[in-house]
Amino acid sequence: MENETIYILAIESSCDDTSVAVLKNDIMLSNVVASQKIHEEYGGVVPELASRAHQQNIVPVTYQALAKANIDKKQLSAIAFTRGPGLLGSLLVGTSFAKSLSLALEIPLIEVNHMQAHILAHFIKDENMNAPEFPFLALTISGGHTQIVKVKDYFDMEILGQTLDDAVGEAFDKSAKILGLPYPGGPLIDQYAAMGNPHAFEFPKPNVKDLNFSFSGLKTSILYFIQKETSQNPDFITENLADICASIQFTIVHILMGKLKKVVKKTGIKNIAIGGGVSANSGIRKALKDAEKEMGWNTYVPNFEFCTDNAGMIGIVGYFKYKSGQFAKQDTSAKARYNLTS
Ligand code: KG4
Ligand code: ZN
Repeated sequence: MENETIYILAIESSCDDTSVAVLKNDIMLSNVVASQKIHEEYGGVVPELASRAHQQNIVPVTYQALAKANIDKKQLSAIAFTRGPGLLGSLLVGTSFAKSLSLALEIPLIEVNHMQAHILAHFIKDENMNAPEFPFLALTISGGHTQIVKVKDYFDMEILGQTLDDAVGEAFDKSAKILGLPYPGGPLIDQYAAMGNPHAFEFPKPNVKDLNFSFSGLKTSILYFIQKETSQNPDFITENLADICASIQFTIVHILMGKLKKVVKKTGIKNIAIGGGVSANSGIRKALKDAEKEMGWNTYVPNFEFCTDNAGMIGIVGYFKYKSGQFAKQDTSAKARYNLTS
């Protein structure tokens, strides 16, 4: 068992990306992601359309992942899949497909928590990445979640703080929508912010005393600010886009870093790992680099392809669970709400 080579086929379908990866132990052989463009015209993910697109994508994406990995499905040791949290209709596609595949190939099934996967993505073996040492603090920032988690071991995690309303990715995307930018607007805010002045406009910071977050007030204040300015100057957005984006990004990064500093102080842990789609943001990446120099933190930022939703991160959790014999039964079901620690 010790020297056994484990091949995991992993499936991710929790939101609007259909992804399949193949791992050989902790090394990724392929990680194919089919992003669904259909949602752009609606300014957000439409659950029913996401589910239908997953159904169309899942078989070709699986074939691509196997071909890219140069692995025959008969070589696979187990099938890992995202059980939750996420959109139920989307999760059902991946869950049903994973169950059928495990049944047909007569190999074990492994259920994976998407939020654990964002955290454990750091352990995919890659020459550009160092795995964080335990214990570490994980800041998971995506379109669906904002959490600070104390990670004591692979499967020993404790949520220290989380958002009370919108996720940080939603704060980016909703602000972008107010500015007339297409969905998902987070990466666009990041791009425009690079050309703007972060102190051009000031937005209020939420007053949440503990380690939790709140972003819905920020979105509302941006909306009122834009409504006021455009009523006086209809070209206000086009004339100031870079400055507005830089100021929004500055505010969000300030909020995130403020909480991280509080958690570091409270726990004494200086190993900080980030994950989730928003960890691609250049503002947060720079702030973390600065914190290394200024406060002696050790920060870990995964490769871009492991930041956003991808099946590679599901596969690494699958690998750890395979090694510790944590398998799922065929009667497992998708869970839209799925606690990180369950
Ligand atoms: O992890 P992810 O792919 O999906 C979820 O599980 O939600 O995260 C997607 C989120 C979106 O809200 C997107 O706007 C945001 O990540 N995002 C960014 C950047 N790249 C992706 N937000 C800010 N700056 C970026 N560079
Ligand atoms: Zn995610």
